[in-house]
Amino acid sequence: MKHEFKLGTTARGSAGAAALAALLLAGPALAASDSDSQAGDSGDDQSPHLAVSHSDFDKTPDGKQVEKYHLTNRNGMSVDIITFGARVQAIDLPDKNGNVADIALGADKVKPYIDNEGTYFGAIIGRYGNRIANGQFKLDGKTYKLPKNNGPNTLHGGPKSWDQQVWAAHQLDTGNAVGVELTHFSPDGQNGFPGNMAVTVRYTLDNDNDLRIHYSAVSDKDTVINLTNHTYFNLAGAGNGTILDQVAMINADQFTPIDKTLIPTGKLKSVSGTPMDFTTPTPIGAHIKEDNTQLKRAEPKKGGYDFNWVLDSKGDLAKLAARVSDPKSGRTVEMYTTEPGVQFYTSNFLDGTFPGTNGKKYAHWGGFTLEAQHYPDSPNQSNFPSTELKAGQKYSQTTIYKFLPE
Ligand code: GLA
Repeated sequence: MKHEFKLGTTARGSAGAAALAALLLAGPALAASDSDSQAGDSGDDQSPHLAVSHSDFDKTPDGKQVEKYHLTNRNGMSVDIITFGARVQAIDLPDKNGNVADIALGADKVKPYIDNEGTYFGAIIGRYGNRIANGQFKLDGKTYKLPKNNGPNTLHGGPKSWDQQVWAAHQLDTGNAVGVELTHFSPDGQNGFPGNMAVTVRYTLDNDNDLRIHYSAVSDKDTVINLTNHTYFNLAGAGNGTILDQVAMINADQFTPIDKTLIPTGKLKSVSGTPMDFTTPTPIGAHIKEDNTQLKRAEPKKGGYDFNWVLDSKGDLAKLAARVSDPKSGRTVEMYTTEPGVQFYTSNFLDGTFPGTNGKKYAHWGGFTLEAQHYPDSPNQSNFPSTELKAGQKYSQTTIYKFLPE
């Protein structure tokens, strides 16, 4: 059963849904291992120490089993992915002296992820990453209304979206990488969005410390889509203070300024002379407390980053989109993506109350996200790159987080 696309209960028996799933699975395939064996055991000398295994993580309150997939490489790096929300639950990364720390904020049970839905720790966000203004958009002349879960707006696909679902999963072994493939079916009208949608997300880890996320999706009606991953990183170790001394570079000359409800005004503004200028490596805390209207809109009390940058990598996966380094530990994350934008968010809504992994506390500014994406509210902004997906057309995105030191 492992490679079979598992349909949600609402879709069971629906020929349309099965056709969708077939279409997706017919796409360019990664060699998938059906066995539970480890890549390192497969006799492939090119990939010593690459391994994948899975185990029970926890159960949802309604009794659904949540699995954890554990990917490791020869550099002592490991990544844990759980099937609840297809989340990155932990990333263990050695520092320059070989000391390993978990640099991804998360929890060791399902309940904190449910009780604190608005944090989106490590989750795959769908159907639409970031905000859609006033919870509505027009497509093919029809207005679609979505539930609002962020003031007047719809955020991250609306309430109880893909981050709150248990995904079907199986492990992968391509010889040069190990990983997990997760699938989810979202029925027509889910949170107001048109079209039955089948989605597949593949996480793979290799010996170059690349954590690659490949997304694909297909819908049976014209719709909109904007997928992203919402991992919060703290390169000093999750729960180990703030990220203000960590140094960020974003390959972007422009960002999309926001109004009071964090919806883009529609303009592209130069970062030059603003706290949004990360064209050269700059400590995240260097300007975060400045009396700047945009920073205050993102976080009225203390200030913070929560904006979309217009990437100059322009969807070229070979070009660096962003990099953040921790000078003390030497740990670094680089991002490469086929997406045109990145939401750089400094965990402005964390307050130390989330029950983190191993009892850790996550402070305000205790992590940052690099959410590769199309721009927020694109369905209502005709001058932004389009997020429309035609019926039967394939959505595809690749984003790589590369970790250093190797
Ligand atoms: C995104 C949004 C933020 C916030 C976080 C999750 O980054 O832009 O405003 O909602 O997700 O808390």
